[in-house]
Amino acid sequence: MPPVRVAVLASGGGTNLQALLDTLGPDAPARVVRVVTNRADAGALDRARQAGVPTTVLRDPADAAELLSALADADLVVLAGYLKLVPRTAVARFRHRLINIHPALLPAFGGPGMYGRRVHEAVLASGAAVSGATVHYVDEQYDRGPIIAQRRVPVRPDDTPDTLAARVLAAEHELLPEVVMNLARKIQHGGESR
Ligand code: GRF
Repeated sequence: MPPVRVAVLASGGGTNLQALLDTLGPDAPARVVRVVTNRADAGALDRARQAGVPTTVLRDPADAAELLSALADADLVVLAGYLKLVPRTAVARFRHRLINIHPALLPAFGGPGMYGRRVHEAVLASGAAVSGATVHYVDEQYDRGPIIAQRRVPVRPDDTPDTLAARVLAAEHELLPEVVMNLARKIQHGGESR
């Protein structure tokens, strides 16, 4: 059975992309076939080129036609540190085949402006004893789509936003490949990925 073709959208360094590239070996049910970014200086591009994966730098991330053409050879789309809102028509085209990873236990600590260090600062400020990572389906709003899976991590009394971010990121690197492989198996067996 051919592997499910995965396109990864990233705006930053791409460590979640790297976790996918490292996990999805030749016998895996999925394969990364394209990396798309809105930033020509994204570290994720170097990782893609290192792995021999084709890349696209979007001229206008709000242009649905440009994005859909970049995703033409994808069955499943993964947002991994992609900071732009996906245009409505692209969300509709990839309904239930478009997922995002977020560095907190949604629905808390999500939404517009909640990304990177700010998320962990907000978790620490709230006094929460646990945090973690969430993979969810993407809809027309930031971080609001149905949750697929979560991985919890403890918040330690001496945590800083950086130490908490590092612990959550390690959980992300386990959770995202697991979810992608599970969805890919469902897609391969003709099932809806939901
Ligand atoms: C991750 O923490 C992810 O959850 C968030 O953005 C960060 C991206 O990190 N949406 P990287 O570019 O994959 O290293």
